[in-house]
Amino acid sequence: MRSLTARSRKPARGDLALYDDHAEQWWRPRGPFVMLHWLAAARGRLVPPAARPDAVLVDLGCGAGLLAPHIAGKGYRHIGVDLSAPSLRLAAEHGVHAVRGDVLAAPLADGSADVVVAGEILEHVPDLPRAVAEACRLLRPGGVLVIDTLADTALCRLIAIGLIESVRLAPRGVHDPALLVDRAVLRAECERHGVRLALRGIRPSMADLAAWSLHRRSTVRMVPSPTTAVLFQGYGRKAG
Ligand SMILES: C[S@@+](CC[C@H](N)C(=O)[O-])C[C@H]1O[C@@H](n2cnc3c(N)ncnc32)[C@H](O)[C@@H]1O
Repeated sequence: MRSLTARSRKPARGDLALYDDHAEQWWRPRGPFVMLHWLAAARGRLVPPAARPDAVLVDLGCGAGLLAPHIAGKGYRHIGVDLSAPSLRLAAEHGVHAVRGDVLAAPLADGSADVVVAGEILEHVPDLPRAVAEACRLLRPGGVLVIDTLADTALCRLIAIGLIESVRLAPRGVHDPALLVDRAVLRAECERHGVRLALRGIRPSMADLAAWSLHRRSTVRMVPSPTTAVLFQGYGRKAG
């Protein structure tokens, strides 16, 4: 397991220690993780109501559990896996069953999840095929995979890293451009593990963003985008 406690004077891009250091910021409505709140709402809308009693949703890289309010009432036991202990403590306060672990080797049984969610995590892992294999391993046949992440494109580097970080809609240095997600590889790896993934681009509503900037709205809706080349969602069901 990689340590989140090691510190250097100037953290490297994508350094996971950032989540420990900024843990108190997770739930701040206008804090540096604000865009994750908007994304969690959009992600939650893709999660179907539980189809059976005792259904389990595994939230890979759950952070502080921002998804929890958006799936409340859908009937799942919400299990969150993350490496950041301070973030997991906050997730637990929001009803998440917190499990400390690496999404590349999740300490959960094969086929234990009705839904696996990987929200804004795949662009942080050094081994995309392994992360996809783990997500699919956890899914029971017929289970649903919900993803949102950042595409490995020049446009994404410009917008999601350059622009978004410079206007403080994400913490500076949170993304390592080398880890952005190749959409073809993502779909191929999902397919290899029995999940045909459909992709769709999303972006913040510009009208909402303007109103939010003027403190006239408390949140910003994510809306469909004509391109998956920046921020995108993935949805698929495991065969069987
Ligand atoms: C951008 S945040 C997303 C958090 C959450 N999914 C959300 O959308 O609010 C990325 C999270 O992934 C966690 N993380 C990064 N790499 C990880 C790994 N290999 N295993 C487990 N968690 C990891 C970080 O600690 C952080 O909480």
